[in-house]
Amino acid sequence: MPELLPVLDQEAVEKLIDETAQRISRDYADGQLVVIGVLKGAFIFMADLVRRLTIPVVIDFVGTSSYGDQTVSSGHVGLTREIGMDLRGKDVLLVEDIVDTGQTLAFLVAHIRSLGARSVKICALLDKPARRQVKVEVAYRCYEAPDAFLVGYGLDFNECYRQLSGIYRLQFNTESTP
Ligand code: IMP
Repeated sequence: MPELLPVLDQEAVEKLIDETAQRISRDYADGQLVVIGVLKGAFIFMADLVRRLTIPVVIDFVGTSSYGDQTVSSGHVGLTREIGMDLRGKDVLLVEDIVDTGQTLAFLVAHIRSLGARSVKICALLDKPARRQVKVEVAYRCYEAPDAFLVGYGLDFNECYRQLSGIYRLQFNTESTP
């Protein structure tokens, strides 16, 4: 079994989300925002973030796949759930749990632009800039994370650990390294 090493507890995560929600609310004070969460990993972050926004929002989700049961991206991003809303002329905030290589968000930003959105910005709970392969601009980043595989607060390994209220680093011992 891999070991869980604490990175951020619930209180620390909530403080970071508070600060980010305030920034977003200030930046979009004059308009309505379409907030799109990337399934499944962003579901807890998204719920906590939108409840702290003080501006009108509408909400949708998009599904992508690229990891399967691995800790390294396959590099091929596919849609598993399409956005169900008309985005033409809208300001979109794409909410993601973690930015790693950047492939998922680069794909989604291009996709949302192709649907006619007026603007698209990225909000990520965690960012691992050391791992970037594709350039993406993360407008709102709650926390710069170490180059490690992280779980909890919506993030999974093999669909496990999403329910943890803090964020942990998954430490594999040599026998169980995938
Ligand atoms: P990217 O396309 O390589 O940037 O990967 C983004 C997606 O990979 C995220 O939405 C996560 O689902 C997954 N991912 C990347 N790093 C981690 C991690 O450390 N823990 C859990 N999931 C991760």
